[in-house]
Amino acid sequence: MITLKNGNVLIGENLIKKDILISEDKIVKIDNSINEGKIVDCSNLTILPSFIDCHVHFREPGFEYKATIAEEAKVAAKSGYTDVFMMPNLKPSPSTLKDVKLLDDLRKDAIINCHILGTITKDEKSVELSDMEDIKKYVKGYSDDGKGVKTSDLMYKAMINAASLNRPIIAHSEDESLLYGGVVREGIWNKDHLIPGILDISETAQLARDLVLVEKTNCQYHLCHISSKYSLELIKWYKTRCRVSCEVTPHHLLLNEMDLVDDGSFKMNPPLASVEDQKALIEGIKDGSIDIISTDHAPHSNEEKSKGLLNSPFGIVGLETAFPLLYKRFVDTNELSLKRLVDLMSLNESKLFNLDSHEIIEGNKANLVIIDLNKEFTITPDFITSKSKSSPFIGMEAKGLVKYTILNGGIIYEA
Ligand code: DOR
Repeated sequence: MITLKNGNVLIGENLIKKDILISEDKIVKIDNSINEGKIVDCSNLTILPSFIDCHVHFREPGFEYKATIAEEAKVAAKSGYTDVFMMPNLKPSPSTLKDVKLLDDLRKDAIINCHILGTITKDEKSVELSDMEDIKKYVKGYSDDGKGVKTSDLMYKAMINAASLNRPIIAHSEDESLLYGGVVREGIWNKDHLIPGILDISETAQLARDLVLVEKTNCQYHLCHISSKYSLELIKWYKTRCRVSCEVTPHHLLLNEMDLVDDGSFKMNPPLASVEDQKALIEGIKDGSIDIISTDHAPHSNEEKSKGLLNSPFGIVGLETAFPLLYKRFVDTNELSLKRLVDLMSLNESKLFNLDSHEIIEGNKANLVIIDLNKEFTITPDFITSKSKSSPFIGMEAKGLVKYTILNGGIIYEA
């Protein structure tokens, strides 16, 4: 048994000073004076539901030189996450039962829950569908993240299957024919710096197609890393008609194209968007039209990312910086309540994707993060423990340091 003593606990909308008793994997009592088992002093600390990230790239199998599941799971635990959804752009990709079982074996090394997403099409090649039914038991949903599904025919059939298998389609919406070799957003910055741009409509055009198909097939559809205000308009409209949700990344909330530097750590897909897009996305997390915040944590080797905007691969790391930067920017400034940030980083994820809720109530599993919300610090390369250090947030001011992360009643990270 563990007693978390004297913490400020997020109960409903409010922070209330309480003790929490954990027995085995559950929260068994929340009260004023508990002194049972091992005592963990949480004075001046805040206890929140642990975070869930529905969009990470843990690179195994196939790209272990970038990262491994075991390594990145430790990074996630240090960042307050106990659950992640691993994107399937892997080698072999989880498209068949054999390859999903391989991933299922590999994830057993992880100290957090690493959920599997299967591909929509075999090896994300948009030629034929993955073995959606065979792999259903292992996967939380289907995604070709990293690539858009090229034809309406394949997406339509995938959605019919997903609806009957009761799993969501988690869509990387991108019409490749509109990329034109771009590496950053087509806008003001790329013209000034003569760097090829990606049109915002490459996201929205494919999203429009997908949403028409969603209405026809009645599947659950989740849009990855929304980056354009036009996409958000479409999502809002379709939310009134179908089972549609979307996520935004911390980098699209905190940065825009005018922050770009010709450095690989500013290259990600979708790219940093316009000031107007950023404003619309911030409005979206406030008004609830955006459901969740996912990091798109995408480690590459430091060598790969050393080649500037033109020649580095797309993708940056984001797990460790997510909470302290979002807290500092939105909660510490009273633009967002702490409860709303926790909805966006934990409670909405479990509702959308059918996981155990991490809400702090008696009887629930003890999945918690304990944070020093007064701790201010600057993001430095040393703060990032991922093998990949490629972060556009180096030098930014942050607030809120994770002290402990608890999964199923066990302490998996202690600062
Ligand atoms: O920036 C990105 N990196 N976007 C993606 O869609 C894929 C990801 C990766 O796998 O590196």
